Amino acid sequence: MDVTLCHGGVVDSNRPDGRCDELIGFVTARVVFAKESEIVDLLGYDSAKSDQTLVYILTLGVVDTYRKLGIASSLIKEVIKYASSISTCRAVYLHVISYNNPAIFLYKKMSFKCIRRLQGFYLINGQHYDSYLFMYYVMGDDLLAHH
Ligand SMILES: CC(C)(COP(=O)(O)OP(=O)(O)OC[C@H]1O[C@@H](n2cnc3c(N)ncnc32)[C@H](O)[C@@H]1OP(=O)(O)O)[C@@H](O)C(=O)NCCC(=O)NCCS
Repeated sequence: MDVTLCHGGVVDSNRPDGRCDELIGFVTARVVFAKESEIVDLLGYDSAKSDQTLVYILTLGVVDTYRKLGIASSLIKEVIKYASSISTCRAVYLHVISYNNPAIFLYKKMSFKCIRRLQGFYLINGQHYDSYLFMYYVMGDDLLAHH
C-alpha cells in the first residue's frame, strides 16, 4: 500500500530566548493494513479479509524540560482523532520497551490496553529487551476476536 506518514509537533511560542520554532514535542505515525500487521490475529476475520487499517505510532517524544505538562497526552489525542477520521481504521497501536515506565503510565492513562509482551523485541548495545504492545481500539472492543 502507499505508506501514509503523519506527524505532529509542538512548539513553545512564548520562549523567552526567542527560539519559538524549536520543537518541544513530536509524534510520528503511519497507516498500515490490518491484514499485513503483526496483530491481525487479534482483530478477527473481517480484518484479515478486508482493507481495514491501523495507525502505528513510530515515535513520541517531549523535550525533558517540557515533560509532565500534558504535551504527550495531547499528541496522542491528536493521533486518536486522526485515526478516528479514517473510516477503515480499527485501532492505534505501538511498542514500548518494558522498562519505560513514564510511557507505560501514559498509555495506560490514555486507555490503551497492553495486549502482548514480546520477548527480546529490542536489541540495544547487544542486549535484548522485551517490549509491550499497546493498543487503543478506535471502533470499540467488540472487534477484539480471540487471543
Ligand atoms: C513518555 C513521554 C513522551 C511523556 O511525555 P509528557 O509530555 O511528559 O507526558 P504527559 O505530561 O502527557 O503525561 C501524561 C501521563 O503520563 C504519565 N507519565 C508521564 N511521565 C511520567 C513519569 N515520569 N513518571 C510516571 N508517569 C508519567 C502520567 O500518568 C501522566 O499523567 P499525570 O501527569 O496526570 O500523572 C516523555 O517522558 C518522553 O519523551 N520520554 C522519552 C521518549 C519516550 O520514552 N517516548 C515513548 C516511546 S514509546
